[in-house]
Amino acid sequence: MRHLFYFIFLLLSFSCKTSTDQEQKAKPVKGVIAQNAMVVSAREEASKIGADIMKNGGNAFDAMVATEMALAVSYPYAGNLGGGGFMVYRKANGETGTLDYREKAPLAATKNMYLDEHGDPIPEKSQYGATAAGVPGTIAGIFEVHKEFGTLPIQDILMPVVELAHKGFVITQKQEKRFEHYKEYFYKVNKDTIPILKGYTANDTLKNPKLAQTLLRIIENGKDEFYRGETGQKLIDFIQDNGGIMTIEDLNKYEVKWREPVRFKYKDLTVISMSPPSSGGICLAQIMGMIEPYDLSNYGHNQLKTIQVIVEAEKRAYADRSYYLGDPDFVEIPVDTLLDKDYLTDRMQDFSFDKPTPSSDISCGNIPGYENDETTHYSIVDQFGNAISVTTTLNGAYGSKLYVPELGFFLNNEMDDFSAKPGTPNMFGLIGAEANAIAPEKRMLSSMTPTIIEKDEKFWMSVGTPGGSTIITSVLQTILNVKEFGMTMQDAVNAPRFHHQWLPDEVYFEPNLFDQELLNEVETKGYTINVKESKITSKVEGILVLPDGTLEGGADKRGDDTAVGF
Ligand code: GLY
Repeated sequence: MRHLFYFIFLLLSFSCKTSTDQEQKAKPVKGVIAQNAMVVSAREEASKIGADIMKNGGNAFDAMVATEMALAVSYPYAGNLGGGGFMVYRKANGETGTLDYREKAPLAATKNMYLDEHGDPIPEKSQYGATAAGVPGTIAGIFEVHKEFGTLPIQDILMPVVELAHKGFVITQKQEKRFEHYKEYFYKVNKDTIPILKGYTANDTLKNPKLAQTLLRIIENGKDEFYRGETGQKLIDFIQDNGGIMTIEDLNKYEVKWREPVRFKYKDLTVISMSPPSSGGICLAQIMGMIEPYDLSNYGHNQLKTIQVIVEAEKRAYADRSYYLGDPDFVEIPVDTLLDKDYLTDRMQDFSFDKPTPSSDISCGNIPGYENDETTHYSIVDQFGNAISVTTTLNGAYGSKLYVPELGFFLNNEMDDFSAKPGTPNMFGLIGAEANAIAPEKRMLSSMTPTIIEKDEKFWMSVGTPGGSTIITSVLQTILNVKEFGMTMQDAVNAPRFHHQWLPDEVYFEPNLFDQELLNEVETKGYTINVKESKITSKVEGILVLPDGTLEGGADKRGDDTAVGF
């Protein structure tokens, strides 16, 4: 009798599960819909400030300036004045481009600055405190965007942010957890106590009057306030007092760069993404080029064959990344070859559905003649038809963990994105080579992948994410989720993700989100899987143009991310 009861119970739970799965499949979840304009970012305050700027007549570029600074106030985890980023844009007239406001190595930086007397890396030096910081590019970035494309006065754009810093923002549960998680690092790195350590809990309001003052001075004096003025001098005094090597000359010399995007076709889509010093666009183009011949939509979303094809392409692209990519102002990158169709076909020659190609058997492709965390993303579309995709970063969560109390912000630890010792992994486990070695004024290689996609020569999607080495693979899967598996933007960003980065030779699956049966199948094929380490920290933000011309926002459920539109 007991057995019969158990059998019926199992049957019921199985049929319940099945109907729930089917229900989920049958009922796609749509994100926020807007008729005219939208911002999707990591915080509601930032999305709202950006959307209000557009409501008041500003364009997507004005909204970018406001959103970037509002994230610095309400999302100190990654939003920043002390970091850098990349913007990819597509104007209403179809013109596309990118802005690189990535941090740079200080003039006094040297190739072996993070190695000990035995030649081994000292991760603490490249990851924590003033020694880890690259020269910040964010303020130069927003002023360049405003100068080139902005329409509203900078004061009108930034005053709502100053107000937000004065009035404060309400701390969420997730933020409380993060403050707690990083407490010990803040104590270790900072000489004095810092605001985040004042014991804030969820629903408390965190005000930042120092940051409000900094922003007011920047409104008054422009970007020079940060790179030559009182703010710059205070920043340098503070960095040097904390053992850093940055000087006022580093700030004086900092310049942003306009760069040609990486542009490639995937079936009927044209993908426009970030060029080096980010590896994002090139890796994305390589992976999409390698998987294009395979019938993914027929294999099914997150099914064994789909996972195999994507993972094997990822391994090969990340192997190339590690060898060939670095700052294009310092190293020659064989971009055309890396993106060439024949080259990519050749890279997949040894792929088989029968068994994995071990990472040890994969090295960078042979190109003749060639000598050998945390981040945040936002997407904006305006009522005029301009679209932008921006990823900005301090690198690690709260960057170097070093807070500048007088100015009200954290400093980046972007120097860890260099390859401190070729062949030795950085904090994301990424391996680099000579191309990404440290040199004065060089930009460190990034994985940030702000991306815009056109369909039928019209804007179709803006997408990007934080997540260190998992950025590229998360952007990839989100695009495929919409294109190949017909998901809504919201479902596409929420769907479970997996990741392979060549080394270590493991497939990471988001914990608790994949069917055990599927994981068993992947293991049986010979793959080493990792479902314990939560390596996938991406929080994707996307905006999709629906067939009726309205905008759908996809704000990742993994964070406090929010879409606001009108
Ligand atoms: N700091 C993360 C990246 O740029 O890839």
